[in-house]
Amino acid sequence: MKALVLSGGTGSRLRPITHTAAKQLVPVANKPVLFYGIESLVAAGITDIGIVVGDTEAEIRAAVGDGSRFGARVSYLPQARPLGLAHAVLIARDWLGDDDFVMYLGDNFVVGGITELVEEFRATRPDARILLTKVDDPSAFGVAELDPDGAVLRLEEKPSAPRSDLALVGVYLFTSAVHEAVRSITPSARGELEITDAIQWLVEDGRSVCSTVISGYWKDTGNVTDMLEVNRTVLEAMPPAVLGTVDADSELVGRVRVEEGASVVRSRIVGPAVIGAGSVVRDSYIGPSTSVADGCLISDSEVEFSIVLDGSRIEGVGRIEGSLIGRTVRVTGAARAPRAHRLVLGDHSQVQITP
Ligand code: DAU
Repeated sequence: MKALVLSGGTGSRLRPITHTAAKQLVPVANKPVLFYGIESLVAAGITDIGIVVGDTEAEIRAAVGDGSRFGARVSYLPQARPLGLAHAVLIARDWLGDDDFVMYLGDNFVVGGITELVEEFRATRPDARILLTKVDDPSAFGVAELDPDGAVLRLEEKPSAPRSDLALVGVYLFTSAVHEAVRSITPSARGELEITDAIQWLVEDGRSVCSTVISGYWKDTGNVTDMLEVNRTVLEAMPPAVLGTVDADSELVGRVRVEEGASVVRSRIVGPAVIGAGSVVRDSYIGPSTSVADGCLISDSEVEFSIVLDGSRIEGVGRIEGSLIGRTVRVTGAARAPRAHRLVLGDHSQVQITP
């Protein structure tokens, strides 16, 4: 069995969170979301991985390499333009051959992995198995309508009047039957060859299409609350370790990971929390559900339930909570009068100030 991981598409630099052009590289607990997908494929015994890449190919290649560090063999499949998920299957036809495969959208995160699903698929081999999850805003997704026994009746991509609240999760299992389907459909109103339409084609053609409803699903929608929540979930399962240094005046409580080259000085860290490689936490408090990425400085401050990305400095600011701090950001206290907030904020920034 192979895996086709979709990491193409255009960059999304303007999103409030995604300071990387490739949305598949948005960090969750200091690790790109794409890496969790690759790891879950390898955990399910799938090591032959083709990654579909587009404009952000260089960034994805630099992050993933040849896959050896995941125990996988990665091939890159360039897609000239993001013409749709089914188009990605079309261009991967030769690489896939007639093998069964998992199609995994590189910006999707499935808590708990996919091992059981892959095992079930291997045992039963329907033409397609889709994953569904209940969402509040189905019209932002592909939506499935099931009959009372759970059989897939109809699928629609981003319907304005959704027939259910069951969204398609970006993990699909296929036999080679899907190749005929992707060749048979035409572009949607948004000009893309939709995998949703290809699966609908399989249903109408009388092929076996099964579904599994899961919980614990996340994708980067630009929603900070969701991102903090998935960060919290992942941190709760993270193995604690101290690879850097923690001085005698500091205290680590609970599940705390201090990466290599990081130092914790006169500080208290209450897990789950991770302090990235080379970061310094000094005279500070880091509270639960916080990820501090690499090369950061947190000094004379308190940071809780937050994500701080690479190279940022937070100095002398009191308490920060429920926040997402981008890369190379400086947040500092101001000693001078008058007491005023001085802000240099990028596009799409959001700030809440306690007066
Ligand atoms: O995330 C789940 C949803 O993914 C499903 O509910 C929808 O049915 C499905 O169509 C898809 O919707 P999106 O519009 O959110 O897909 P997006 O354009 O974000 O692309 C998903 C991933 O696939 C992303 O990592 C980029 C990559 N991609 C996308 C296109 C259109 C490609 O590699 N090539 C492409 O041509």
